[in-house]
Amino acid sequence: MLIRKPHSYLSGIAKITKLHTGLDSGLRYGQNSLPADSLKGRCEMTKNFLQPILFDSNHQRTPMIRRMFLLFLSCLTLIPFCAGSGGPSSTQGALMVKKEAFGSTPDGKAVELYTLANMHGIEVRVMTYGGIVVSVKTPDKAGHLADITLGFDTLAGYLANKPYFGALVGRYGNRIANGKFAVDGKEYTLAKNNGPNSLHGGLKGFDKVVWQAESFQKSAEVGVILKYTSANGEEGYPGTLHVTVTYTLNDKNEFSIDYHAITDKATPINLTNHTYFNLAGEGSGSILHEELMLNANHFTPVDSTLIPTGKIASVTGTPFDFTKSTVVGSRINNKDEQLELGGGYDHNFVINRQGAGLVLAARVYAPTTGRVLEVDTTQPGVQFYTGNFLDGIHGKHGHIYNKRDALCLETQHYPDSPNQPSFPSTILKPGQTYHEITVWRFSTR
Ligand code: GLA
Repeated sequence: MLIRKPHSYLSGIAKITKLHTGLDSGLRYGQNSLPADSLKGRCEMTKNFLQPILFDSNHQRTPMIRRMFLLFLSCLTLIPFCAGSGGPSSTQGALMVKKEAFGSTPDGKAVELYTLANMHGIEVRVMTYGGIVVSVKTPDKAGHLADITLGFDTLAGYLANKPYFGALVGRYGNRIANGKFAVDGKEYTLAKNNGPNSLHGGLKGFDKVVWQAESFQKSAEVGVILKYTSANGEEGYPGTLHVTVTYTLNDKNEFSIDYHAITDKATPINLTNHTYFNLAGEGSGSILHEELMLNANHFTPVDSTLIPTGKIASVTGTPFDFTKSTVVGSRINNKDEQLELGGGYDHNFVINRQGAGLVLAARVYAPTTGRVLEVDTTQPGVQFYTGNFLDGIHGKHGHIYNKRDALCLETQHYPDSPNQPSFPSTILKPGQTYHEITVWRFSTR
């Protein structure tokens, strides 16, 4: 766990002095651009149009000066259509944040949806229910925007969000064996919501509560600050925990998640985000052709209930070696005990690091669209999960999500750390500050 002062990488909460809520400016990206196909067509037309002017068979009868003048006029008219056609730069926008209503929970709590957009047309929507990342739209190598995260069109879908699409997970992301742990000699019992284990904070984890929210806008970034106080004893965990999570989108095409927490009693804590990515666009089918690099020489093997055995195993010579960019599906069906136990990849990787701070944990590349996602984090681990439990879920725009239609890179502490003395500690004590950062960086190649 990283316990230190707010990181200088992105402005800390303390530094935020000006908050903007409910800005009414609409999304403005793309207003000066035309779809790349239509631009391509116009450029072809230009070629056909110029041909007769320059090289018409009657050119003897057309004075040279007149032909040059016509050419000049044609260029003036057509330059704006041809400039930048098809490239990512054709997606123009403006930095903005806006708030709108997104329904209410069965117990009557209003839910708000925040839209963050940057000058390159990237748009991220997050909501106050579960701190859920509802959508992430980024351009592909031709400049076409698509939503690259799985989810639902309405709040109703998220209220029964079994796969944790986009969720802000806590108080303890991933599994705690047998739903039990001890802190300061006292044993605590959690609900078993995943076979014999407790998963993702229990029956009503942080992904199922409504967070308080305030948006902000600065010169080169916009964001939302979410706050939630988890009561002493909630879901069986000790201590009143005050949690602040800041989502920020900047003009460098980075979306960051900054987690802070303090407690009044020692408690385990492991916050993460459970977004499901498909860099070819949600609903476009399998991610097995996408290429992945994980900056991890080791992983934590699991037992049949996906609890770590305690061993820190080398990835060398195994299907878990992603230290060089590798097609996700190239070894997923290998005869390998760990892949069989996980039903694919569903494992915590130990991020290579020298000391604390942000390091590159993962890079995903989709050859079909050229989209690249890089994940930096201060956390010690990342759960690489290949959507093995997706089983025909009805998602956005009528799309059906099946096994392997997305992948998750849940930056985190190792699973079951409270019961694994050899793993880095996840116990937060009174007087300490929990602080972790994860950054998703979007680009194309
Ligand atoms: C995590 C777990 C998976 C699965 C998903 C949610 O990634 O490791 O086993 O439970 O959450 O479906």
